[in-house]
Amino acid sequence: MNEPAQESGAQARHCTAIVLAAGEGTRMRSARPKVLHQIAGRSLLEHVLAATGAAGAERIAVVVGPDREDVAEAVARAVPDAAVFIQNERLGTAHAVLCARAAFESGADDIVVAFGDTPLVTAETFRRLREPLAAGAAVAVLGFEARDPSGYGRLVTYDGSLLAIREEKDATAEVQAIGLCNAGLMALRGDIALALLKAIGCENAQSEYYLTDVVELAVQRGERAAVVLADEDEVQGINDRIQLAAAERTFQAKRRREVMAGGATLIAPETVFFSHDTVVGRDVTIEPNVFFGPGVRIADGATVHAFSHFENAEIGPGAEVGPFARLRPGAKIGAKAKIGNFVEMKNAELGEGAKVNHLTYVGDATVGAKANIGAGTITCNYDGFAKFRTVIGEGAFVGSNSSLVAPVTIGAGAYVASGSVITEDVPDNSLAVARGRQANKEGWASARRNLQKQKKAG
Ligand code: UD1
Ligand code: MG
Repeated sequence: MNEPAQESGAQARHCTAIVLAAGEGTRMRSARPKVLHQIAGRSLLEHVLAATGAAGAERIAVVVGPDREDVAEAVARAVPDAAVFIQNERLGTAHAVLCARAAFESGADDIVVAFGDTPLVTAETFRRLREPLAAGAAVAVLGFEARDPSGYGRLVTYDGSLLAIREEKDATAEVQAIGLCNAGLMALRGDIALALLKAIGCENAQSEYYLTDVVELAVQRGERAAVVLADEDEVQGINDRIQLAAAERTFQAKRRREVMAGGATLIAPETVFFSHDTVVGRDVTIEPNVFFGPGVRIADGATVHAFSHFENAEIGPGAEVGPFARLRPGAKIGAKAKIGNFVEMKNAELGEGAKVNHLTYVGDATVGAKANIGAGTITCNYDGFAKFRTVIGEGAFVGSNSSLVAPVTIGAGAYVASGSVITEDVPDNSLAVARGRQANKEGWASARRNLQKQKKAG
């Protein structure tokens, strides 16, 4: 199976990650804090927490703005033992890191500083960022060659070694011409970090405590600062919804390539949208225009036809789903089963080889192997107050346009006559007919027409 990239880093050095998430995010124009906006069905903050955790950080501290219980709660859900620190005044990135000093002052070999609004940095990159520290550097900075460097801090190097970072507002024209930029993420050697951070002042264009000043301070002390290069796409930060969409695009493009490299066919990859945790097996074919919400697994050999929408669902080996299928949370499609067009399933299991081919709602139900559910069948699972289950036995046949009023059981091998409203259990291998009996009145139509004609004639 082709799982999303999950790295497990067992490095000998102890690592604490500090995630800065005290951003105001005003340009999002949102009631929701910026770091809780989502990419591929997961918040920006959770992307960062997952990557730093996978890169080997044993301790994670998140710095949030005042009155941000929502962010603190999101952290607690994602990483229950993470520490949350509040930065009451936004005095700069170095000040923000110092707000979390309790997380590292008692000792950490490595301290990694990540930004909560820079969600695409991989665990592998965080691990690479730590490598120079093990080799003795005091600071390692994540750098990238910017297509357009404006707004970024510039990396001032000499003979390959990093001397300083200059924020654009403080940079001379000569420094502004440098294309090598600071992605913002940094790794600091724990034994020296606090001393460097405390030495940072705020005599600069923005009167802020710049984290970037640690580089120059370290170099002044005869320590080494290193640059680790990353791809610009990976370090893109998010300030508004346009950048949010751009980051989503980058994420999706990468995920599609991974899914195809894992042995799945995407006929029009640019129209298929994955969640951060979508698991796609080998020899799966996904037709155009398919959306995956979180928690979906597709086993080997399954086919997903066009225009389908899934969330927290499982599709078994060799199963076929869609076109226009909707699988909602708790839908489990058995091996070689078939779900056809305009079928919705929720909290329901479909046994091996079962078929639900057209225009059907299956909710809170268990459908046995090889059962066949006719077009227009509805499980009536809700009475306005509570939900009830429908159980359909193996090999049962439910005629088209039937309503199965739950709680109800259709026995194995039983038949339900088309158009029935089933309110009572149906025994195994029997036929249930629950509809008005047909009566043909011969000649009725012509008699009526004659009567109408006479009336009209006066
Ligand atoms: C920062 C870097 C810059 C780099 C750029 C990359 C500094 C001084 N500059 O600049 O070199 O090129 O990122 O995007 O670090 N934050 C707080 N509290 C604060 C200030 C910031 O939590 O007091 C958080 C923000 O929420 C954000 C991150 O730190 O997640 C970066 O802050 P931001 O103000 O965006 O820094 P930039 O000016 O972009
Ligand atoms: Mg920024």
